[in-house]
Amino acid sequence: MGFFRSLSVVSFIVSRVQAAVSSTGFTVSLTDIDYFLPPKPVASISGCEEIKASFEDGLFVPFTVVKADGYGVDIAALMASYAEDDVWQEGFMEVLYVEGSSFKPMNSTTTILSGDASKELAPGPYFINAAGHVYEAWRLFSDVQGAFTESAIGNGDGSYSVLPAGTVGQKQAIAVPSRLYFTKTAEKPLAGVRIGIKDIYDIKGLRTSNGNRAWYWLYPPANATAPPVQNLIDAGAIIVGKMITSQFANGETATADWVDYHEAFNPRGDGYQDTSSSSSGGGAGTASYSWLDVSLGSDTGGSVRGPSQVQGLYGNRPSHGLVALDHVMPLSPVLDTPGLLARNPLLWAEAAQAMYGPNITVTNSYPTSIQTLSWPTSASNVANELLIDFLGNVTDFLKANTTAYNITASFDADNADVAPLTSFMNLTYALLITKQQVGLVREPFYADYAAKHDGRLPFVDPVPLARWGWGDNQTITVDQAIADKTLFQNWANETFLAPSPETCSESITMYVGSVGETTYRNEYLDEPGVPLGFGSSRISVMAEVPDFVVPLGEAPYNSTITGHVEYLPVTADLMAAKGCDGMLFSLIGKLYEAGILKESKVGQSGVTGGEMLLRRGMLE
Ligand SMILES: *[C@@H]1O[C@H](CO)[C@@H](O)[C@H](O)[C@H]1NC(C)=O
Ligand SMILES: *[C@@H]1O[C@H](CO)[C@@H](O)[C@H](O)[C@H]1NC(C)=O
Ligand SMILES: *[C@@H]1O[C@H](CO)[C@@H](O)[C@H](O)[C@H]1NC(C)=O
Ligand SMILES: *[C@@H]1O[C@H](CO)[C@@H](O)[C@H](O)[C@H]1NC(C)=O
Ligand SMILES: *[C@@H]1O[C@H](CO)[C@@H](O)[C@H](O)[C@H]1NC(C)=O
Ligand SMILES: *[C@@H]1O[C@H](CO)[C@@H](O)[C@H](O)[C@H]1NC(C)=O
Ligand SMILES: *[C@@H]1O[C@H](CO)[C@@H](O)[C@H](O)[C@H]1NC(C)=O
Ligand SMILES: *[C@@H]1O[C@H](CO)[C@@H](O)[C@H](O)[C@H]1NC(C)=O
Ligand SMILES: *[C@@H]1O[C@H](CO)[C@@H](O)[C@H](O)[C@H]1NC(C)=O
Ligand SMILES: *[C@@H]1O[C@H](CO)[C@@H](O)[C@H](O)[C@H]1NC(C)=O
Repeated sequence: MGFFRSLSVVSFIVSRVQAAVSSTGFTVSLTDIDYFLPPKPVASISGCEEIKASFEDGLFVPFTVVKADGYGVDIAALMASYAEDDVWQEGFMEVLYVEGSSFKPMNSTTTILSGDASKELAPGPYFINAAGHVYEAWRLFSDVQGAFTESAIGNGDGSYSVLPAGTVGQKQAIAVPSRLYFTKTAEKPLAGVRIGIKDIYDIKGLRTSNGNRAWYWLYPPANATAPPVQNLIDAGAIIVGKMITSQFANGETATADWVDYHEAFNPRGDGYQDTSSSSSGGGAGTASYSWLDVSLGSDTGGSVRGPSQVQGLYGNRPSHGLVALDHVMPLSPVLDTPGLLARNPLLWAEAAQAMYGPNITVTNSYPTSIQTLSWPTSASNVANELLIDFLGNVTDFLKANTTAYNITASFDADNADVAPLTSFMNLTYALLITKQQVGLVREPFYADYAAKHDGRLPFVDPVPLARWGWGDNQTITVDQAIADKTLFQNWANETFLAPSPETCSESITMYVGSVGETTYRNEYLDEPGVPLGFGSSRISVMAEVPDFVVPLGEAPYNSTITGHVEYLPVTADLMAAKGCDGMLFSLIGKLYEAGILKESKVGQSGVTGGEMLLRRGMLE
């Protein structure tokens, strides 16, 4: 017995010696702030005698790279400018590495590295080890709002891995590099811009969940990156993680519908309002975290617009077909679109230009006709006042004529040979999403799962299950639903969403996005149903036109959670003819520059900011 045991130990030792160990990076804490150092050094600096003693206390020494001009470095001025960065801190200032000639230190408490770097380093915070290897500093932030499904860090070869690091906050950590490393250029307009990706887009090296746990474990990590994501990466974006989606991008409401994953937390108001779906994580993360700039969602029936409306963000449903959706989970290919959520409208437009490339054209001539759908006419409450003021501001800005448009009356008058609009389009959306997703997603998923698990079914949340089951029972074909959609699209293109050679679109059509109404996430809901009916938010879906959400302000409500008056976002939607996305981005940018629209803030309020209620008084 003893004889065999010692033999097996010997063989274990032999095999252990052959096992390869590779670094997955390092985590360190500097003045109680957690950092991640990616595994590969970015340069080395030889002969740093000044800091040799420091390595006796730790593996790494923090330092800052600065560029000297001919006169040296004004350290106080430098620190003031670096303080804008959310990764750099004063702890990096005890040691400096100065690039450029004629350096004269103006602060004798700072140690200057005398060695030579193997390559030019971008300014900003770094760590150096005793071997002289220089590592970038990525700060770790906790995803306290549960907006991410998985963290991500680039491997440098086009693939991504899960970040091997954690930090306080009861959720996973997300790592972001210092903004000081990056300079935007024509080739890299998104250099250093931090973007989160809805977890229905494949990213090479990471698993995709589509909001379903069985799916996550059934399939291997993606071997390719979806084109919209790749376009963002190619423009310099830093992809920081995959973000929460309701299951298979169907509409789910917190909390009962969210069985496999928990809905992200909306930071606005009392912090217990629904995020809307399906781009739940993208909306919550962009509204919560100053360290996240933009998120990529998808909009089939409102999945970018809904989260933007209830969290007071800029969010776009683009014209259909602007970028290929290979390696993206389909809901309904004839309706699916990739859209972006952001706080700043100019950055939003830059990211869109990078993602849609030459498929959008930014134009600066705007329509002088505005049509409104069910717009308020009396300033009877805060939300209506904001909406009326905004319409007045845009009307003045464009020197436009504004008219109320009644889409049902107009459609019915022009299309006497088909059913009235609300009946004609009643089932179209539901038919397309259920029947197309059954064929493209459910059937291969069930077959693959059964093959691996002895004929078993995977778990699916109640909402997609109810919708798929309804779709199975419908006799109207996908072709018929597409024909009905096309009839509506052609009619819209000839009437209130017509193209124009001068201004791209004959008119701008506006409808109310959100008015600060509550959807508490602690309410018990009815059983899930099917999204029947037709309303303003379905127009762009069927007409393939751009539909952009803009935040206008916020309205008060008495919260049943806090017993206190809180505020929720008020937003508007702007639509134009198909292909006029660039005109809308440009117009919204001009409205922002004119002070009519504002940047949205992170935290409890999109207007005044403020730390989320839970975290009031916390120091970052
Ligand atoms: C010198 O640098 C230290 C940080 O390393 C800073 O705290 C101090 O204020 C600086 N002194 C001057 C005179 O700029
Ligand atoms: C990549 O994955 C897809 C689907 O998972 C598979 O069909 C394809 O063969 C894979 N390609 C390579 C190069 O492994
Ligand atoms: C432009 O749109 C077409 C059709 O969707 C697509 O094939 C092409 O890849 C798009 N271009 C870019 C740069 O994404
Ligand atoms: C607005 O309407 C008025 C009166 O109907 C008309 O005279 C004017 O030309 C219109 N302006 C635009 C920009 O359409
Ligand atoms: C639009 O017109 C219909 C009649 O076709 C009417 O029932 C409806 O109330 C009108 N809607 C609005 C918003 O005015
Ligand atoms: C829409 O369809 C549902 C289910 O068939 C039906 O109950 C409802 O009356 C329809 N609505 C309209 C406006 O046709
Ligand atoms: C589909 O039809 C069958 C037979 O009429 C019925 O039993 C079932 O409840 C229906 N399923 C759904 C999801 O409507
Ligand atoms: C819209 O109508 C115009 C003619 O006014 C036509 O050139 C264009 O192709 C149509 N666009 C769509 C998306 O149907
Ligand atoms: C909140 O409740 C108080 C007392 O019922 C009421 O006077 C006030 O108008 C309410 N405020 C809002 C914003 O609904
Ligand atoms: C928008 O309209 C309101 C109400 O007329 C006005 O007070 C405000 O100054 C306008 N804002 C801008 C930026 O023009």
